[in-house]
Amino acid sequence: MMEPRREETDFDRLMAELQRQIIEQARALYSAKVIEEFYNPKNLGRMSVPDAHGIVHGWCGDTMEIYLRLNGARIEEATFMTDGCGPTVACGSVLTTMARGMSLEEAGEITPENLIAALDGLPEENLHCAELAVSTLRHALERYLGGQLDEVPARLEKLEK
Ligand code: FES
Repeated sequence: MMEPRREETDFDRLMAELQRQIIEQARALYSAKVIEEFYNPKNLGRMSVPDAHGIVHGWCGDTMEIYLRLNGARIEEATFMTDGCGPTVACGSVLTTMARGMSLEEAGEITPENLIAALDGLPEENLHCAELAVSTLRHALERYLGGQLDEVPARLEKLEK
C-alpha cells in the first residue's frame, strides 16, 4: 500500500488546525446559534418567481435580498441571499424561518431586537446585520403591499431591482 505523501499530511494538519482556530475565535465572539446558522443556513437561495422581493444595501457595503412566496395573506415560503458577513447569513436564515407561516402583518412586526434574541444575541459590531435583514423583509412586504410599511431606516438604501 502506498504511504500518503508527507507534505499532504502536513497540509491536512495545518488546515485542520486553522479551522480549529477559526471556530474557537468564532465561539469567543458569537453564540452557538449564530455559528450553527452560519455553517448550516436554512432557506438560502433565490426564488425564481417570488410573490414579493426585497433588496437592501447596508452602509457596511453588504446587500441582502429576501424572496417571499405567499398563500393569500400568509407567507408560505421565504428565502434569502446575501453577500454579507457570517452573522448576516445567520440573520437571513433565522429571519426567513421565523417569517414562514406568519401573516404579512405579523412578519412586518418583527423587529431587529426579536431577531437578535432568536440568535441568542449578537456582538455590538454586528447589530446592524440584524437591522439589514429585518429591513429587507420589510422592503419585500412594503413593495407587495404598496408602501404601507415604509420603515426602513434612512441609512439603509433600498434597491429597486
Ligand atoms: Fe455587512 Fe454584516 S457586516 S451585513
